[in-house]
Amino acid sequence: MDRAPSNVRWVDRPLVEADIAAVVAMEQDACTHALHAWTPENYRSSIRAGYWARVRCEAESGQIVAVCVAMDGFDEVHLLNIAVARAWHGQGLARALLAILEARCHDRQAARIWLEVRPSNVRARALYTQLGYESVGLRKQYYPAEQGREDAIVMRRVLPGGPDALD
Ligand SMILES: CC(C)(COP(=O)(O)OP(=O)(O)OC[C@H]1O[C@@H](n2cnc3c(N)ncnc32)[C@H](O)[C@@H]1OP(=O)(O)O)[C@@H](O)C(=O)NCCC(=O)NCCS
Repeated sequence: MDRAPSNVRWVDRPLVEADIAAVVAMEQDACTHALHAWTPENYRSSIRAGYWARVRCEAESGQIVAVCVAMDGFDEVHLLNIAVARAWHGQGLARALLAILEARCHDRQAARIWLEVRPSNVRARALYTQLGYESVGLRKQYYPAEQGREDAIVMRRVLPGGPDALD
């Protein structure tokens, strides 16, 4: 449920190259460590590759408060990144963006959404678990970390009504 104050109006639109500096700054502030945030090049290459990349902005100020990037597969979607501005944490914005992604998956008849998450990212893991994602694997030493590297938990959501729903 989107719990942001009801007087705030949102605009959801595609991410464009002119947004990248603002999005990177927003995400670096949102993450527990700047190393965990995407780089400008990550966003640039996602736009150029044609991935689904959306931002949510405050309608009045135009300020970007959240970003979500996903890559389409044949009958599945890979969530590559999601971040919400620190000032807006806990207001249901990530949940709202993931609901939009899920509706889009439904329209495309995608069966599953995949993602990776750091074991140390308690907030994100709680978000995904609450939305019905399950842990299905581990990629060892996947992410750069403050010291060495950190594993990634692979999570999957089987979409209701999709071909795998009875897995
Ligand atoms: C993870 C992140 C995207 C969550 O965004 P958010 O808008 O604050 O999340 P929501 O308000 O939509 O919360 C939805 C659910 O997530 C979980 N959650 C969110 N914040 C949490 C917190 N601080 N502690 C525990 N669970 C939390 C809860 O299950 C919550 O549901 P509830 O409020 O009914 O309990 C945000 O914290 C963020 O931008 N983090 C930095 C970037 C990042 O880690 N991205 C994920 C990469 S895999």
